[in-house]
Amino acid sequence: MAKDFDQMEDSNRSSNPAIHDLLDPTRRIVLRGGAGAAMAALFAPLTGCAIAGGAGPTTRLGFTGIAPSTADRVTVPEGYVAQVIARWGEPVGIAGAMPAWKRDASNSAAEQAVQMGMHHDGGHFYALAGSSARGLLVMNHEYTDDGLLHVGGMRDWSAEKVAKSQAAHGISVIEVEQRGGTWQMVRPSPYARRITASTPFAVGGPAAGHTMMRTAADPAGTRIDGTMNNCASGMTPWGTYLSGEENFMNCFAFGDSLTPHQKRWGARKTSWMRWEQFDERFDAVKHPNEPNRFGWVVEVDPFDPASTPVKRTALGRAAHEGAWVAVTQDGRAVVYSGEDARNEYIYKFVSRDRIAPGGGKANRELLDHGTLYVARFDADGTGRWLPLVQGRGPLTAANGFADQGAVVIMARQASDALGGTKMDRPEWVVVDPTSGWVYCTLTNNSSRGTKDGAPVDAANPRANNTMGQIIRWKDDGDFDGESFLWNHLVLAGDPANERPEARGNVHGDAFACPDGLAFDPRGVLWICTDIGPSALNKGEMERLGNNQLLACDVATGEVRRFLTGPFNCEITGCTFTPDGTTMFLNIQHPGETPSERSNPDEPRRFSNWPDFQSDGRPRSATVAIRRLDGGVVGA
Ligand code: FEO
Ligand code: CA
Ligand code: CA
Repeated sequence: MAKDFDQMEDSNRSSNPAIHDLLDPTRRIVLRGGAGAAMAALFAPLTGCAIAGGAGPTTRLGFTGIAPSTADRVTVPEGYVAQVIARWGEPVGIAGAMPAWKRDASNSAAEQAVQMGMHHDGGHFYALAGSSARGLLVMNHEYTDDGLLHVGGMRDWSAEKVAKSQAAHGISVIEVEQRGGTWQMVRPSPYARRITASTPFAVGGPAAGHTMMRTAADPAGTRIDGTMNNCASGMTPWGTYLSGEENFMNCFAFGDSLTPHQKRWGARKTSWMRWEQFDERFDAVKHPNEPNRFGWVVEVDPFDPASTPVKRTALGRAAHEGAWVAVTQDGRAVVYSGEDARNEYIYKFVSRDRIAPGGGKANRELLDHGTLYVARFDADGTGRWLPLVQGRGPLTAANGFADQGAVVIMARQASDALGGTKMDRPEWVVVDPTSGWVYCTLTNNSSRGTKDGAPVDAANPRANNTMGQIIRWKDDGDFDGESFLWNHLVLAGDPANERPEARGNVHGDAFACPDGLAFDPRGVLWICTDIGPSALNKGEMERLGNNQLLACDVATGEVRRFLTGPFNCEITGCTFTPDGTTMFLNIQHPGETPSERSNPDEPRRFSNWPDFQSDGRPRSATVAIRRLDGGVVGA
């Protein structure tokens, strides 16, 4: 989600120790904001920034980089083509239920529930029978712009409009195939599926049945209606899909009196979505436990359309961006995740059991048993994974953590108590399959270094961090190691910026606000950006253009711009066919109105991508990007 700076959650007022950030003398110079040698070194361009597993100086980026753009279109390098598929509102392909898109937004809630949702975000390609020409695309629909979603926007707000808004959230499973270089949706498909804010979910892990999860509609606390604000995505080695419930708090109204627990989770008197006006379960005054049932990583088996998706509570509750899996040498799953809110944390979960052969069914409880950790980044370039285990350290009943269910439901408070490092909005995580280094985007944090925000520290070294950075770590021993080494791949920025801290140290094309990440089959890192519409193309972002996709050779640190998106969109959901000849990418919220919803009377005010119909409206969509000669993308 392109969170505009003035709307972002900033709830962490914990005073957990920052001493570990103050031990290193060179970092202290940076903390004081001096312009000495240490700062110069930290912010220097990353020429030759090789890490473990790095290759020689030969670049692996084989395309001609493109210039920044403010055009309302997708631009790719010469020799490439970008084809639009799977627009918001297209039928996903459920046999007997394929209503056509209506350009005036007059599709009903029931029709939206079998059409592509709004605001495509994370996504993955699942090859069918190993093919790079046929597979499933599974993707999130992060949120809705209700000014565009309905005839008249939120005027005449109604139960039907609330139901349509809920139906446009969630996850889509579609089948796609490529013929003669052209991708198309396969409709109908036995795999086609929509999961929405109303779809029944099971609950796995220590919060299942917990008293804090029980509601009047679900007294057992084991069955939850729906998922929403699904942001980033991860594909498991056993063939399932993980999705993070990120900004779920926007869906709940908490009234005038907030508990400390609610305050710590950014609760607000009224909701942004206004669902509670026609769907009482989003009224947290009447149903105070309902918000505890969101903020989880959810697991979906896209190969079994009849399967019940599951909320995996052992991975902790957070404003989860997403979740990403590595595998230890003895076959256990390690799941990395962060929560995209200012000054929140990075987590990892180590499964107790080994991955079993046999796909989703054989691993249906794998993510329900294991150990959850929060990351502490120390100033000397090492770090610790601190276990979020009830009864250990401060996580006792006397401190409000009566059982492991309470620990995972209140993972923020538990991480505060343990002294996790407050990060600059952790977004996507990816694991380099060749080196084992794990990369995480820290998209920005304008509150860093301010009176109410966290102080600058070694991992988050810039005050008023408008530009963001990519941090990386290597766990000691194996992915289950409880300590790690870390450094920054890059501090994003524009070298022409007037403010030294906003110049960054990019070796190559300037960019800001890294968000989505993906390693392609060759090991090139792809970086999606998400500058909020209120900041885009002005002020410090003036020279950077629309949001974009860049390729980075992590062996050399070189960054090269590959794609620019339409106006006011964000770029996300980068995923590849196994042979690397097609990249799928999601274009989210083209034409978004800064800091507010679209005006239903001016739906085309900022963008009309991708249809450019005179009576249409901008639509999130997937683009399939190929080389004209059929070669490997980026090579
Ligand atoms: Fe949904 Fe943090 O982006
Ligand atoms: Ca973002
Ligand atoms: Ca994101």
